[in-house]
Amino acid sequence: MHTILHFSDVHFGIHEEHLVAATEQYLAETESDLVAIAGDLTQWAKEEEFEAARNWLDKIEQRGHRLMVVPGNHDVPSFNLVKRFMSPNATYEKHMGEWGEELNPWLNEEGFAILGLNSMRGLVIKNGEISDEQIQLMRDKFGEAQDDDLRILMLHHPMWKLPRGEELSDPIQNQVAAVSATDDVGIDLILSGHNHTSSVHRTVDLPKGDGSALVIQAGTAFSTRIKIEPPSFNHITADRHNCVIKVIGWDGDNYVERRQHHYVREHDEAHWQPTKGNTMGLVAEMARAAEGKA
Ligand SMILES: [Fe+2]
Ligand SMILES: [Fe+2]
Repeated sequence: MHTILHFSDVHFGIHEEHLVAATEQYLAETESDLVAIAGDLTQWAKEEEFEAARNWLDKIEQRGHRLMVVPGNHDVPSFNLVKRFMSPNATYEKHMGEWGEELNPWLNEEGFAILGLNSMRGLVIKNGEISDEQIQLMRDKFGEAQDDDLRILMLHHPMWKLPRGEELSDPIQNQVAAVSATDDVGIDLILSGHNHTSSVHRTVDLPKGDGSALVIQAGTAFSTRIKIEPPSFNHITADRHNCVIKVIGWDGDNYVERRQHHYVREHDEAHWQPTKGNTMGLVAEMARAAEGKA
C-alpha cells in the first residue's frame, strides 16, 4: 500500500497562516510516499505568492516527503494579459524549480507510477485541456510501468463534470480522447482540484466515463475565504486493489478526519466497489441530470 497526501488549490495570497502551520504539523507527524499538489498554488501568480508557496514546499521536503506539483489556472498572471498570453507559465517556471522545468512530471518507482499533466491553457480555454501530445505522453509513460504498479494521473482541472459545491463544473477540452487513454493505460486513480470541493467518484458512474478508475477531487487547504466548503486535503492509502481516502478537514481548531471512502476490487480492470461511506449515488444522479439523462 502507498500513502499519497493530495492537496490542491492552496492559493497562497489568500492563505491563512494558522492553516498553513496546521498542515505543516500534520506533515511532520505523517509518513507518505508522495505529497501530490494539483495546482493553484497561488491566487494571483505574484512573485511573493510563489515565494510563500516555495517556502511551504521546501518545508514539506525537509520533513522527508517526496513531492509532485502541477500548475493550475491561478498560477498564470491574471492581471498582465500580455504576459498571460505570451508566456503564461514564466512566473511558475521561475519559482518552482524542477516543477517549473517539467510541467508534465513523471515518477515510477517502488510500486507506483504517477504522471502529472499541465492542463492550464492561458486565456483561450477556460476549463483546461489535455492535448493529443499529452495523451501520447500518458501512453508512453504508463507503457513503461510494471503490471502491479499503482497507476495515478494528476491534473488541476477535473476531467468530468464534477461537483463544485452544489453545482457541477465543466469538463476539460479533449475529454473523450483523454478519458479513453486513461482506460487504455489502466489508470487506477485520477487526482484533481480546481472545484474547491472534495469528492470521490467511480468513472463507471460518470457520463463518458470509460475505464475503471477512482476520480478524487481535493478541496482547498489554506483559506476560509473560499466559501464552498471548509478547508481540507486528502490522505489516500492505495494499491491496485484497495483504496482508502480520508478527507482531512478543518474543524475550526484542527485538521481532523471528516470522511472516509473505502473501495476494493478483485483485479486491475474490475470496477472499484465501495465498502462504506461513499456518496457516489448522489453524484452520479447530479451528473446524469446535468447531461439530460435523468
Ligand atoms: Fe482554485
Ligand atoms: Fe483552478
